[in-house]
Amino acid sequence: MKRIGELERKYVLEVLDTDFRSSRGGAMTKRLEEMFAALCKCRFAIAHDNGTSTLHAALLAAGVGVGDEVIVPPLTMASTALAVLHAGAVPIFADIDPDTWNLSPQAVKGCLSSRTRAIMPVALYGLMPDMDPLMEIARERNLSVIEDDAECFLGYYKGRVSGSIGHMGSFSFQSSKHLTAGEGGMVVTNDEALALRVRRINSLGYAGVSTTKAKITRDDIQDPEYARHVAVGFNYRMAELCAAVALAQTERAHELIDRRMYVARALGDVLRRASWLVPQHVPDDCVHSYWTYVVRLADDAPVGWHEFRDAYRSLGGDGIYAAWRLNYLEPLFQTGPLYPGGQPFGEDQRAGGITQTFGRGLCPTAERIQPRLFQFKTNYWSDEALERQLDLLGQVIRQVDAAHAAVGGAGR
Ligand SMILES: Cc1ncc(COP(=O)(O)O)c(C=O)c1O
Repeated sequence: MKRIGELERKYVLEVLDTDFRSSRGGAMTKRLEEMFAALCKCRFAIAHDNGTSTLHAALLAAGVGVGDEVIVPPLTMASTALAVLHAGAVPIFADIDPDTWNLSPQAVKGCLSSRTRAIMPVALYGLMPDMDPLMEIARERNLSVIEDDAECFLGYYKGRVSGSIGHMGSFSFQSSKHLTAGEGGMVVTNDEALALRVRRINSLGYAGVSTTKAKITRDDIQDPEYARHVAVGFNYRMAELCAAVALAQTERAHELIDRRMYVARALGDVLRRASWLVPQHVPDDCVHSYWTYVVRLADDAPVGWHEFRDAYRSLGGDGIYAAWRLNYLEPLFQTGPLYPGGQPFGEDQRAGGITQTFGRGLCPTAERIQPRLFQFKTNYWSDEALERQLDLLGQVIRQVDAAHAAVGGAGR
């Protein structure tokens, strides 16, 4: 199976054949948006240049601004928290569930303040968080919920597809993701007013765009009196060439995502042989879409993180990815300043009600789990390459167990 195939090439050539004529502006983007909205069972989809600008645009559309707080998990790729900073707001980190490693609704409750404006749960590694209690908290406090589903295309929570539960959902087409155009992103929503706001933020504040119209065309601007800009916007639009690839990938979504799930099952079958590797817990009412397959090294494991990684690599295994350092332990949160004018969570703002100190001890569960995670990639497109990795993993596990047995351990 090929990740990028004939359909992607066909659509790219279609775009090239238009000579990028502005009278045809946005044709491929429009097709992509319609198809992607249908995939996510949402009314609107707005294509972006990446899955960080999507989060920024969604936050701004939700009215998040300077002095506001947005609750996020600490165990995620940094864009989740960075986008909050881009909006001039402050990320507040709520701890994770010890088994699913996703944002804990209980911890979110403990992070609420009068400044909280939004919650941004992340579907970590392809698993949806426990959305019902998060939506309930949002309803009670009149907050916006923006799903960061960059890693979760076609994941399901209680029968509902990722992107369709929160007020908005955000996806990434970056090169490692389930569906890719090299770079790219998408915001989905069922709310017409939010869709229009996201579109304007993404399109330089143009008057001539709409929930479903991605680009202004030549006809719009053939009048010297034409009033173009009705808002401060960014240029976060997806390029037509990327839209061509993303459209083909969206048409092939089930095939591409099923492959990831197949690889994850195969990895799980091998990794389960190690009693000291604990997989991410998938609740019965969720369908995991497996951007990566992730296991945690048990507390009493007979091997260390680096030791296992090195043993696997020395046999010829692919590198194993570590989980990102917790966002608030990144140097940028420790030292700042983030902006020339100082960081948005400086002393003044802290005095104004911001409660968190970004240091060790803030989210103990995440701090305990993050250093023990192994992320295995699921984007193997050839069975031969996959089988080889499975074989090597089996060998490393046997090696560890044999070494442990030799020193008199119980194999745990
Ligand atoms: C959870 C999460 N959020 C946001 C992003 C940002 O997406 P992009 O790289 O397209 O900006 C990513 C991945 O890259 C991600 O994994």
